[in-house]
Amino acid sequence: MTNRVRIIEVGPRDGLQNEKQVVTTATKLGLIERLAKAGLRHIEATSFVSPKWVPQMADHAEIMAGLPALPGVHYPVLTPNLKGYEAAVAAGAKEVAVFAAASEAFSQKNINCSIAESIARFEPVFAAAAKDGVRVRGYVSCVVACPYEGPVAPAKVAEVAERLRALGSYEVSLGDTIGTGTPASVLRMLEAVAARVPLAELAGHFHDTYGMGVANVHASYQFGLRCFDSSVAGLGGCPYAKGATGNVATEDVVYLLNGLGADTGIDLDALVDAGAWISEALGRPTGSRVARALLAR
Ligand code: HMG
Ligand code: MG
Repeated sequence: MTNRVRIIEVGPRDGLQNEKQVVTTATKLGLIERLAKAGLRHIEATSFVSPKWVPQMADHAEIMAGLPALPGVHYPVLTPNLKGYEAAVAAGAKEVAVFAAASEAFSQKNINCSIAESIARFEPVFAAAAKDGVRVRGYVSCVVACPYEGPVAPAKVAEVAERLRALGSYEVSLGDTIGTGTPASVLRMLEAVAARVPLAELAGHFHDTYGMGVANVHASYQFGLRCFDSSVAGLGGCPYAKGATGNVATEDVVYLLNGLGADTGIDLDALVDAGAWISEALGRPTGSRVARALLAR
């Protein structure tokens, strides 16, 4: 099995979407540029969602206009429906992500519709994307537990993931939205999903609320996953998952993967600098243990 791992940097989107203070477009673009220079090749740049629901992502068109045009760097964006998709493509998006949940209550709170309705809203997005040559990634939230419903059955996650793949997702990212998963519950979920979606088309998206992010990446890597979403400096939290903290820090994931002999193509020192830069801009300490250790040297 390959030791090449793809990291999807979600800091500028998942990391900043819930930020209470104003983060200027220039700061967001400064972060994205530093991440690209550190070797990140997939940087989720923004969301084309309602600015009433997620004000922090309201500058999506300005972000797209200011993205550094670097060869081989992809900037996927979130699109919940055709309206978001059309706005994203008009702004220059070449890759989008639709997001569903494995829990009905979370689907309602997050995107104001049932799981079945969300799939129906994605259908025209996939149809338009196929015509436009735009790649679509699928997300499933609450793959271990839901903040409103509690534990989520692995079979339900597998069902939604399989549906997103059948619609045309090139990859399905499995989100432990509230970070309660442990290697045991994550592996139970992965076994169920991998029975229905090829492992090579799955990604792990672990929030680090309970400090299990690195353990869950490790367990998933041993299981065979080769794509992980993470957030520089551990930025973030979902606006519709109260108390949930950021994604596992990209610095921590890269350090782990380096130690396992995996190849991410990322320059850890440059990544740590990018994390230090955004942490200073936000006026708070980094959420990455690895960054803290390396900066103290
Ligand atoms: P809605 O109110 O049900 O939509 O919201 P609607 O179709 O009834 O339209 C209502 C208004 O919203 C209309 O405007 C529409 O034009 C507008 P009005 O006529 O009132 O002026 N509208 C839009 N505006 C901008 N962009 C759009 C759009 N669509 C409709 N795309 C909607 C439905 C999905 C839009 C709303 O619920 C929403 O924006 N939700 C935000 C969800 C979100 O961003 N959540 C965070 C990201 S997901 C996440 O973090 C999890 C993940 O990281 C994985 C994990 O960790 O699990 C991915
Ligand atoms: Mg997330």
